[in-house]
Amino acid sequence: MFAIQKNNLYRELKPNNPAALQFSTNNYLGLAGDERLKQAVIEAVKKYGVGSSGSRLISGTHRLHLELEEKIAQLKDTERALVFSTGYAANLGTLSAILSEQDAVYSDQFNHASIIDGIKLSRANKFIYKHCDTEDLERLLSENAHKYCLNLIITDSVFSMDGDLAPLKRIVELKKKYNALLFVDEAHSFGIYGPHGQGLVYELGINNEIDIQMGTLSKAAGSEGGYIAGANDLIEYLINKSRPFIYSTAPAIPSVAASIRAIDIIKEGNDLRKRLYRNIEYLGQKLTPSHSPVFFKKFGTIEQALNISGQLLEKHNIQATAIRPPTVQTPGIRISLTALHERRDIDCLIEGLILLSSGLIRIKKGGNEEFNAS
Ligand SMILES: Cc1ncc(COP(=O)(O)O)c(C=O)c1O
Repeated sequence: MFAIQKNNLYRELKPNNPAALQFSTNNYLGLAGDERLKQAVIEAVKKYGVGSSGSRLISGTHRLHLELEEKIAQLKDTERALVFSTGYAANLGTLSAILSEQDAVYSDQFNHASIIDGIKLSRANKFIYKHCDTEDLERLLSENAHKYCLNLIITDSVFSMDGDLAPLKRIVELKKKYNALLFVDEAHSFGIYGPHGQGLVYELGINNEIDIQMGTLSKAAGSEGGYIAGANDLIEYLINKSRPFIYSTAPAIPSVAASIRAIDIIKEGNDLRKRLYRNIEYLGQKLTPSHSPVFFKKFGTIEQALNISGQLLEKHNIQATAIRPPTVQTPGIRISLTALHERRDIDCLIEGLILLSSGLIRIKKGGNEEFNAS
């Protein structure tokens, strides 16, 4: 028996149950099954086939890839954008390309694995600051920034597991003070915040201060793929230097066609966003307030988290997956809301949680910026 089996850390693949009430997806706007996306995919596949059949620089760049990149750049109001096969590849491929041993990177303790891996691959000097703690970030910058030619601060905007928001306004002040660059991962905020779903940095009015905006098309956009949006020079550099971009087959036609349609819907998607915000507010009143669709119910032990998650499915037909180390430090159940949830769905979840767990633990928010999600 492996040690991870003894410690309840062994992971297995299970097909999700389509009949269960889902509270574990990243399909925040409900676009993954949207008829308009399906139609766009069918039309594109009939016209162009399925696979892209090559890497972007050899034979794989279809006009749909360029259309998608233009749409992202337009929406984000950046000079240009570049699409990768996944968000993971976008982070890995950008960090490993732009950073080297001579540079320093300042990364939030709870940043996503793709950021951690990208930093490792870059061999840059890394300084991990305490989660959402801008005092700790400033301490690290003041002690180290003068030693390196390039200093890069990197943070998720919405943290994938806890759902809390990075203190981005303060981070922008520090970036300016220490002449650093700022990379923001909007994987869990693209489509959700901003007047046209551009992301949290737009909602906060600081988009022009962000040097590199990363996001994924696999969450609110309901499709697949990652993007980097920024200056033309950055994108040109990545096209020439980013190994996951260069040495991998271009995203397939169905994903690209779905993403193009999703961006149009996101741009005009205030009704969907309002429905999502109403759900966030409703669950927040019952559980603990959140400024994002992600809620994390912590448990004392891995067994408790697994047990409650298992019983939610078995007894209440609710899928809310337990999350264990090393993905998180404290085990718990990650609950995510979508625009498609009805009030009665959320009531079922609350009822199940109350019946199964005695005394819900409040989630401490890391960010301290005011954000009105209603
Ligand atoms: C913060 C963050 N960044 C990047 C990614 C990777 O995106 P993708 O799933 O498109 O590879 C994720 C996915 O979970 C994420 O949560």
